Amino acid sequence: MTDMDPAQLLTAIRSAVAAAPDTSAAMKQVVRLLKDGVADYTWVGIYLLDGNELVLGPFMGKPSPHTRIPLGRGICGAAAAEKATIIVDDVNEDPRYLACSVDTLSEIVVPIMQDGEVFGEIDIDSDRRAAFGSKDRELLEPVAALLAERMAEDR
Ligand code: SME
Repeated sequence: MTDMDPAQLLTAIRSAVAAAPDTSAAMKQVVRLLKDGVADYTWVGIYLLDGNELVLGPFMGKPSPHTRIPLGRGICGAAAAEKATIIVDDVNEDPRYLACSVDTLSEIVVPIMQDGEVFGEIDIDSDRRAAFGSKDRELLEPVAALLAERMAEDR
């Protein structure tokens, strides 16, 4: 599978988020477009913050045992607590890592937030070591901002 051009992918995601009838549909479209658009994205999911827990929303890939993650636990909980993108090149070397699949080698977590308030996050795993870098951050942070805007509008 070849990757979609990142600018084209972002444009497609922007259109899909704008056209979606609600936040839930927008999140599903984002997950699908990211999963289909980038070969290295083995597992793509969105967690939503509910009180002090991250609750798994739409995802594509193998089912994860981590459907609820307390803030501060795992790489997901760390990204939400720190309000910052986290890239892990080798999950087996990171003591925070909560295993989802034995095949996962690297991970990126991008908070979905607006004005310092975290709504959730985009979590992506790859079966390739060090699969994520600045290109992914440059794609995913704008996608998270689009979702945050949509979530703020819809609530
Ligand atoms: N690896 C994540 C848990 C979620 S699964 O990857 C889907 C973490 O360490 O928080």
